[in-house]
Amino acid sequence: MDHSYWEGEWRAGRLPWHGTAVHRDLVDFGPNFLQGGAHRILVPLCGKTLDLAWLAARGHDVYGIEFVSEAITTVFEEAGLEPVEEQVGPYRSWRSGTLTLIQADFFEMDSTVLGPMDRLWDRGGLVNVDPGRRAAYVQRLRSFARAGAQAMVNVFSYDQTGFDGPPFSVPDTDFKALFASMRGIKLLRRDKTRVRQPLALQHIEGTGTETWLVEM
Ligand SMILES: C[S@@+](CC[C@H](N)C(=O)[O-])C[C@H]1O[C@@H](n2cnc3c(N)ncnc32)[C@H](O)[C@@H]1O
Repeated sequence: MDHSYWEGEWRAGRLPWHGTAVHRDLVDFGPNFLQGGAHRILVPLCGKTLDLAWLAARGHDVYGIEFVSEAITTVFEEAGLEPVEEQVGPYRSWRSGTLTLIQADFFEMDSTVLGPMDRLWDRGGLVNVDPGRRAAYVQRLRSFARAGAQAMVNVFSYDQTGFDGPPFSVPDTDFKALFASMRGIKLLRRDKTRVRQPLALQHIEGTGTETWLVEM
């Protein structure tokens, strides 16, 4: 899905993937995933997720990457924050406290500009990348991570013949192949009951979500 697709979705206010609460994976697995003090956390393809402000409120240095500026400014508006606009390397960014959102294409962005990340939280990122670009996407995730970093990745799995996507299905075999060169992969949760959006997925037998922990 290219930039114009996402711009169009934002302009039309079609944001079915946006959650009205902090993602429960962060709430449930956060105590383990985030233990050990303040981390530098990357949230790729961040949209306007409430997870950003939640992570920053817990003292972490949070960096979201998003190419639609409306998404970025809305995050701060909805959190009641007045961000400072700054240039980070060649990129436009908005910052309030420890929350920094950068307007950039994740595939194009120079990862050295931000410095290495300790944690990566991917919900609605990998699953929205065209399947042919997934390997490149995973390489991008890796390029932002320090040695020994951890990523938590939430994906959908469903019968792809029943729905065109996005979001696309990332079955276990594909996930494991994509992250095979990492230090470790562990399935934290498989949930076959909670697919809320897109509506089309509710009618496909066996649809679910998986949450993976990746040792990078
Ligand atoms: C499905 S939404 C998920 C947003 C967020 N992660 C969440 O869970 O609410 C995907 C977001 O990624 C943005 N996006 C898509 N491709 C991107 C890219 N290559 N670089 C930066 N942002 C991108 C879109 O504009 C959109 O806001």
